[in-house]
Amino acid sequence: MAIERVGVIGGGLMGSGIAEVCARSGSNVVVHEIDVGAAEAAMGRIEGSLARAIDRGKLEESGRRSILNKITVSTDLAEQADRQLVIEAATENEDLKKQIFAALDDVIDDENAILASNTSSIPITRLAAATSRPESVVGLHFFNPVPVMALVELVTTVKTADDVRGQARDYAASLGKTVIDARDRAGFVVNMLLVPFMLSAIRMYETGVASAEDIDTGMRLGANHPMGPLELTDFVGVDTTKYVADVLFEEFKEPLYASPPLLTRMVEAGLHGRKSGEGFYKYE
Ligand code: 3HC
Repeated sequence: MAIERVGVIGGGLMGSGIAEVCARSGSNVVVHEIDVGAAEAAMGRIEGSLARAIDRGKLEESGRRSILNKITVSTDLAEQADRQLVIEAATENEDLKKQIFAALDDVIDDENAILASNTSSIPITRLAAATSRPESVVGLHFFNPVPVMALVELVTTVKTADDVRGQARDYAASLGKTVIDARDRAGFVVNMLLVPFMLSAIRMYETGVASAEDIDTGMRLGANHPMGPLELTDFVGVDTTKYVADVLFEEFKEPLYASPPLLTRMVEAGLHGRKSGEGFYKYE
């Protein structure tokens, strides 16, 4: 079954990027948002990203129009009823995601529809258990910025059906992404490695080993990373980084996943990184 009708739950940084790449590869996409203001902001993010793609010579004006024609943003979850694949990209919060999965389970007509989560860290088995169709649930973990980053992690559980795994893999590959398989353990592959690296950089900064700028310059020029670890924490979101670290710590109880006090204080102070205007650095 070719997947032509896709739903995306949440039009934030990740959801808007996912909607864009799905529409770009030809799918009709309905993005769900909680209210009219959030829906407008989601469409604004997609338009902004398409404008950047045109500026960078990655897209023609006709391509932009055709992508926008394939995307609608709705505040009515019932509009997901005819979707063949729904990708949940709501805030990283387990209770919220479970509620969304239970609601989608009720709303979606097609018993063969695939329910996917873009969670960065939460075990997919827990989200699948909130539905009556755990065999149809997978993780499809995209990376930020979605239109640029080439990877998708495909996370399957002990309950995922083989044909669902195959269809989810084929669909992610059809978006031009390279797909890697990950077992259903908190953090999957990339965040299990990346998050302790970011936490180590925060500990290094907190204990005064080096300035934020020097830590980031060190890893950019000394290891050829596109961004240093503190810049990356601001980019991913200081709050999201802490949430993912906490989920990893809860799962493995390893000190390397423990949130450094500075990270916790920054979240409490509202220094959430780029999206809030300040994190390890200040933004316009
Ligand atoms: N659409 C399509 N292509 C775009 C685009 C868009 N909207 N915006 C930029 N691009 C392309 C550019 O054309 C360019 O391509 P080229 O290399 O072929 O010329 C490339 O993307 C880089 O764009 P820019 O030159 O504008 O920007 P920079 O060189 O400053 O790179 C960056 C920006 C891609 C964000 C880079 O800094 C980077 O890779 N940073 C690291 C990002 C990262 O690690 N992300 C993962 C975070 S972890 C995560 O998401 C998991 C989560 O669970 C926490």
